[in-house]
Amino acid sequence: MIRVLFVCLGNICRSPTAEGVFRARVAHAGLAHAIATDSAGTHGYHIGEPPDPRARAAAKRRGVDISDLRGRQVAREDFERFEYVLAMDRSNLRNLARLCPRGAESRLRLFLEFAPEGTPDEVPDPYYGGADGFEYVLDLAEAAADGLLAHIRDVHFAGNNGPRGA
Ligand code: 4NP
Repeated sequence: MIRVLFVCLGNICRSPTAEGVFRARVAHAGLAHAIATDSAGTHGYHIGEPPDPRARAAAKRRGVDISDLRGRQVAREDFERFEYVLAMDRSNLRNLARLCPRGAESRLRLFLEFAPEGTPDEVPDPYYGGADGFEYVLDLAEAAADGLLAHIRDVHFAGNNGPRGA
């Protein structure tokens, strides 16, 4: 099992949206048995809460249901469980770098590293803005989700008869 953790500040807007988009792609590819997803926030403001209603509505308009997700705070142990710890922006990345145990640094990346060339490298925080911001988060998440899935297939599932052909 390959485990992917998406991380933002509050875990109610960007990271649940990224998780929802990515897990839908994983399920569509028939890889739900091989790739596990989760999301978390660097801060604990919204522990136990569902995603922001604006994030849920925007995702639903694109056929992605994130209503089952609940906020939690990222922990040092997450670097042991998750092969990929993907930050939404550079501020999240800095906070995660402080938490990251020595030797686990290669697990920590920016989510948008997996988006096509020319895509910005940060997902802007939509919390204090309007509905457009949530649409843009989805645009970016969709752009990076395919690249992330292709990367995981290449690195972890290529060259054997495992999940790739599933
Ligand atoms: P997120 O957005 O990091 O994308 O979940 C935010 C959600 C809540 C807050 C900030 C950003 N907040 O300050 O409560």
